[in-house]
Order: sequence, then C-alpha cells, then structure tokens
Amino acid sequence: MKLGRIAVLSSGGDAPGINPCIRAVVRTALHYDLEVIGIEEGFDGLIRGEMRQLRARDVGGIMQRGGTFLRTARCPGFKTKKGQRQAKRELNESEIDGIVVIGGDGTMRGTHILAEMGFPVIGVPASIDNDIWGTDMSLGVDTALNTIREAVDKLRDTASSHQRAFLVVTMGRNCGYLALISGVICGAEVIIIPENEIPIDEISKEVIDAYDRGKSHSIIIMSEGASYKPEDVARKLVEDECGFETRITILGHVVRGGSPSAFDRILGTRMGVSAINALIAGESDVMTGLNGREIVMRKLEDVVSQSREVNLDFYEIAKILSR
Ligand code: ADP
Ligand code: F6P
Repeated sequence: MKLGRIAVLSSGGDAPGINPCIRAVVRTALHYDLEVIGIEEGFDGLIRGEMRQLRARDVGGIMQRGGTFLRTARCPGFKTKKGQRQAKRELNESEIDGIVVIGGDGTMRGTHILAEMGFPVIGVPASIDNDIWGTDMSLGVDTALNTIREAVDKLRDTASSHQRAFLVVTMGRNCGYLALISGVICGAEVIIIPENEIPIDEISKEVIDAYDRGKSHSIIIMSEGASYKPEDVARKLVEDECGFETRITILGHVVRGGSPSAFDRILGTRMGVSAINALIAGESDVMTGLNGREIVMRKLEDVVSQSREVNLDFYEIAKILSR
C-alpha cells in the first residue's frame, strides 16, 4: 500500500531523546511527501482523537529539549479491547496509513496489539530504565546516566568533606541497569540492584570495610526496584556504627529530565529516520533497535515476550575497582 499520511505519538514515561526522534520522524516523512499527524498524550490522546498536522516548522527548536513536546500519558483504557478498537477507529477515520509509536516496554505491548489488529506500526524504544529487549540502548538512558553521574560527583564532594556515607537511590523501576552502570562510573563501594540483591548485613560490612581501608566517604547506589527501603539500609549502618555518618538522597524524577545528550540526539535521530524508512518499505510490527553500531528492526512479538537482562559482569568490575 502506498503511504499518504502517517502519525507519531509518544507514550509511557518520557525520556530525553524523544524530541530529536519526533523531529526526525516528521522531517523524514515530509521529505518523502508524506503528511504527518502528531497525536498528543499517547494512546489516551489517540482514543480521544487529539491530533494535529505537523509541518517542518512545528518541530523546530525541540532537538535540545528533554521530555516530549507531543506530551505523553499512561492510558489504562488502551489495555481494554474497547479502548484498542476506539484507537483503531480514530486512525481509520483520520485516514492515517501507519504510525510510529515511541515509548517504553508497556508502550511496545500496546503497539504490538495495534499491529495484530492489522494496523501498520513501527515502535521506537524510549525509557531511561533500559529494560527493553532488542536494543543495546533505549532513548534517554545515556542522558539519565549523565544526570546521575553529575549528581553523585557533587554528593561525593560533600560526602568526603564530612566523612559521610551517601545512599543514592536511582529510578529504574524493576531494572537495575541505571544503578549498576552509575555505580561503575561513579566508583560506588556498594551497588544494590534487584537482579543481584545482597543482604543488608553485607552492605553494612562493605561500608565498614571501606572505612577501615581509610576511605574518606562511601557511596552506595541503590535501585528503586530493590526489595528493601533506603531507610532500612541507613538504620543498619547507624546500628552497626559503620564509621561514617549516613545520608539518603533520592534522585527521583530529576533523572528523567534534561536536555538530551549527544548520544541520545543521534540515537533518536537515527531511529526516527529508520522508522519512516521501514514504514515506507512496508514493514510493520517491528521496533528499531541499536545492535552494536547498527540500527536493526526487531519483531515486536520478540520484544514484548522478553526482558533485557543487565550484564552482571559490571557488578564484579565495580567491586574490584572500588577497593
Ligand atoms: P512505558 O511505555 O514507559 O513502559 P507503561 O508501562 O505505563 O509505560 O505503558 C504505557 C502505556 O502503554 C499504558 O498506559 C497503556 O496505555 C499501554 N500498555 C501498556 N501495557 C499494555 C498492554 N499489556 N496492553 C495494551 N496496552 C498496554
Ligand atoms: O519507566 C520510567 C520510570 O521513570 C521508572 O524508572 C519509574 O519507576 C517510573 O517511570 C515512574 O513513573 P511515574 O512518572 O509515573 O511516577
């Protein structure tokens, strides 16, 4: 089928890099004389028919902005058959021939369902969690890592001045990727991730050991997906008189904001261009993925049935290098 009009939306948690991707989708599509419709607020906006035409100037000046200028939403209604049928009807009534959907693993599930209903779709992975199967990196991960690195570097200044242990909590939902990699790049003495959780007793032992080795401070990076609370860890450090005073910093949504890094801009751009090329080539039910240096197409069926595993070698590396 020859394409005439395509749509783009972002859904789920926002991530730096989505704007460069939307810009690439819009301008590549216009280059091939396609009309482009921007759908606002994810699947929610789709169900409500919140859409507008996007021209080249509409995506000017968004490259350097975090978040998503189309806005995003979590839409429980789209998980129902009724919501999914409403969405498909809106797409048909608006004479849209294909859609690029940018979002996290939940969004890829919804996108796969649209494809199964016979609608041409291309997914683009965007989530700071880096938990999406089929891509080395999702949009937003690199910027989030840089934000955590900057925060921990600053905390280290004050931690060493005061001889303190800082327990820094990162986002990541159930995936420890952000905590693990930031633990390596920030030289944390202890990393707490759901994939390799160590007992609280052991955390305390590691911090005491760091004190005994003459360290001026200690950094513990903990993923929000860990099964215990940061307060429980801090309480144990106080109880065991670990040597350092203890403070907790929860980075929260700060990690999800900010201007996209160079890496996220180029990744978003390449994935946006590839998504349009794939739609034009008649592909559907696939997601753009970074495989080494190449952008590849992954079947959404495979994406939604698997999870991206963290590489636990980094855990051992961090341990050795933080001595
Ligand atoms: P993310 O895409 O960042 O992982 P969510 O998990 O909240 O965020 O998913 C975003 C949206 O994708 C949901 O609000 C819902 O509209 C849709 N979605 C998620 N899971 C499913 C599913 N199993 N079936 C259909 N739609 C889904
Ligand atoms: O999936 C991205 C993410 O930022 C997770 O790391 C976090 O657990 C969750 O979204 C927070 O969601 P919300 O913005 O709805 O609070």
